Amino acid sequence: MHVIRHISPAITWVGGSDRRLSRFENLFPIPHGVSYNSYLISDQKTALLDTADASILQRFLENVSAALDGRPLDYLILNHMEPDHCAGIVALLERFPNLQLVGNAKTLTLFSQFYDLPLDGRTITVQDGQTLSLGSHTLQFFFTPMVHWPEVMMTYEQSEKVLFSADTFGSFGALGGTLFADEVDFARDWLPDYRRYYANIVGKYGVQVQNALKKLAAVDIQTICPLHGLVWRKDLNVLLEKYDLWSRYQPEEKAVAIFYGSMYGDTENAADLLACALADAGVHNLAVYDLSEIHVSEAISEIFRCSHIVLAAPTYNNGIYPPMLTLLHDMKALNVQNRTVALIENGSWAPTCAKNMRALVDELKNMSVLEQTVTIRSAVKDATRTDLLALAQAIAQSVQG
Ligand code: FEO
Repeated sequence: MHVIRHISPAITWVGGSDRRLSRFENLFPIPHGVSYNSYLISDQKTALLDTADASILQRFLENVSAALDGRPLDYLILNHMEPDHCAGIVALLERFPNLQLVGNAKTLTLFSQFYDLPLDGRTITVQDGQTLSLGSHTLQFFFTPMVHWPEVMMTYEQSEKVLFSADTFGSFGALGGTLFADEVDFARDWLPDYRRYYANIVGKYGVQVQNALKKLAAVDIQTICPLHGLVWRKDLNVLLEKYDLWSRYQPEEKAVAIFYGSMYGDTENAADLLACALADAGVHNLAVYDLSEIHVSEAISEIFRCSHIVLAAPTYNNGIYPPMLTLLHDMKALNVQNRTVALIENGSWAPTCAKNMRALVDELKNMSVLEQTVTIRSAVKDATRTDLLALAQAIAQSVQG
């Protein structure tokens, strides 16, 4: 049975959620699931904005049929040609013989790479800024390349002022009946998933996101309909301000996140000691993470939130303990910038971890590394404790300064 929700009398959400998939892109754990959003506009012509993932294909097709209510589908707008939004294209082409695919030149190239179906006479190739009339509704296409694929575009419906934003403004998390951001406690229940989705899926492309935000700045947007997560029709600035911060690689909060790797508990001991000393010094926006226990995407998400990060790890194979090395590689891949970093290393006979971590941090833009690097020789002793207390003072001063 179909499950749809109306955004307006003419615009219907026809997407669905997957709560069984354990890893998005077979990579990122999604304990709260994920939604694949699709939207139908019914006017003199009908237009569907993107399709959905194969996992929800049957329900998606039921939803489209219900929303069409017996009418044919005239246009399928392809804002994004990644497979989590494309699984319904072929089925819809077969079901509606007069259906035309609407995309840009890159969209259609990607279509031919993923599918063998000939499209002769069934495509409309649009240019940046071009419009397409559906009757009283008019679609305008804005190209937003590399947010986060090259073909990505957003579609703006002029009469209702709705932006169909592709992955931008999307999130991990299945929908639970509540489709609109004003129907949920966003800060409590959704913000961490929004941040982790942004940081890990789009985070590398901050410049391109800034370009997209600038391009759309003059557009009167009343509603945002992304391909994942919630629909926004109120308080759009809550999300726009987060996107502005994230895409400029600016921290959301004056906060310290301590990430440690620890083989036998001694580096963990140092992390805990430092955290307690920071709390004693009045730094209470604090979080401590064992990198062997959390997924690297969670660490990246916290780095996008926090102004200060502490990296603590043992020397391993004369280098960096693997979970910390993975985090540093991801920080580089995702363009992390503008953070203050403190380093703690452990090494029983030849500690090299801090030097190697420093070298990788130095590859990032505008990172400030505190000079008080702490070296642990196997386990924390009185002298190391003194060094850690001094490091806590330096971090507290930096946070509070
Ligand atoms: Fe949700 Fe980039 O696909």
